[in-house]
Amino acid sequence: MTDKINELLKRVEEFQPQTAADVEEFRIKILGKKGELTALMDEFKTVPAEQKRELGQLINRLKTTATERINTLREQMQDVAADQKSATGDMTRPGTAETLGSRHPISRVKNEIVEVFSRLGYTVADGPEIEDDHHVFGALNFPPEHPARDMQDTFFIEKHPDILLRTHTSSIQVRTMEHQKPPIRVICPGRVFRNEAISYRAHCIFHQIEGLYIDEGVSFADMKQSLQYFAKEIFGEDTAIRMRPSYFPFTEPSAEVDVSCNLCGGKGCPVCKGTGWLEIMGCGMVDPNVLRLNGIDPKKYSGFAFGMGIERIAMLKYGVKDLRLYFENDVRFLHQFDTDL
Ligand code: PHE
Repeated sequence: MTDKINELLKRVEEFQPQTAADVEEFRIKILGKKGELTALMDEFKTVPAEQKRELGQLINRLKTTATERINTLREQMQDVAADQKSATGDMTRPGTAETLGSRHPISRVKNEIVEVFSRLGYTVADGPEIEDDHHVFGALNFPPEHPARDMQDTFFIEKHPDILLRTHTSSIQVRTMEHQKPPIRVICPGRVFRNEAISYRAHCIFHQIEGLYIDEGVSFADMKQSLQYFAKEIFGEDTAIRMRPSYFPFTEPSAEVDVSCNLCGGKGCPVCKGTGWLEIMGCGMVDPNVLRLNGIDPKKYSGFAFGMGIERIAMLKYGVKDLRLYFENDVRFLHQFDTDL
């Protein structure tokens, strides 16, 4: 019995409550009518007379210690509760939940694309949205009469025909070539502006990611391999790509890249208009003229470039049918992209 009393004494001394309710619960357990002390008292009645004196003293000590400790703790807990109330209101009341926003689908897809290319050694480059003719067109081998310079595509700043809103982020690639010698491996995400009627498939503001890779001995096969890797990472392992001949003033040869339609698996459906293929970007080998215009020796270096619209990639990836949704900030649309990332 001595052991039992000592063990209880130890528990009383070591008891650390968090709240006043903890103290009360402990009090009932130890000192209450059906508590552990009462049980010890009952047991005490049955011990032989010669042990009564010693055990009696021990039980009394337990009772005083427990009563004192519980009283002290009770006071302490009340003080804490009072402090909390006076300092910041009632800390024990439930809080107001904050609703978190979510990352915009365009940012999510942009981050994902940047991540894929960073695994291939590309770094992100940035540049201004308000540009000059040289960086958007001139240094990219656009002939002076090229239709892309036409008022219909480009937003010019009134009275300053040389200043315009960039129509593609290729301007960042020009700026990179200006201050960096090959090898160059950059990815250029950013907002671009074109004077287009707003519809389900076009907007006057949208986002692009373009890439540029220049080094000795860079080939068309290198480009195809990189873009194939990109397509599989973004659209899934089973994705195939194909290239169709195309034209851009700054690349030669140029191509449009299609990915196999991941909705119908290439069989043909309304999204791919029955072709089994979806167009995702333009690409090509950097025209030697562009290298020359930017101070890079085309005899020594070659390279490839590519460019895609982020809205388009996001539409295909998430099955979004109307591009305008990305600009409307309707939380019912945006909340669908709440998960992970
Ligand atoms: N700059 C082109 C566009 O905006 C895309 C592109 C980039 C094509 C690089 C080929 C090479 O449409």
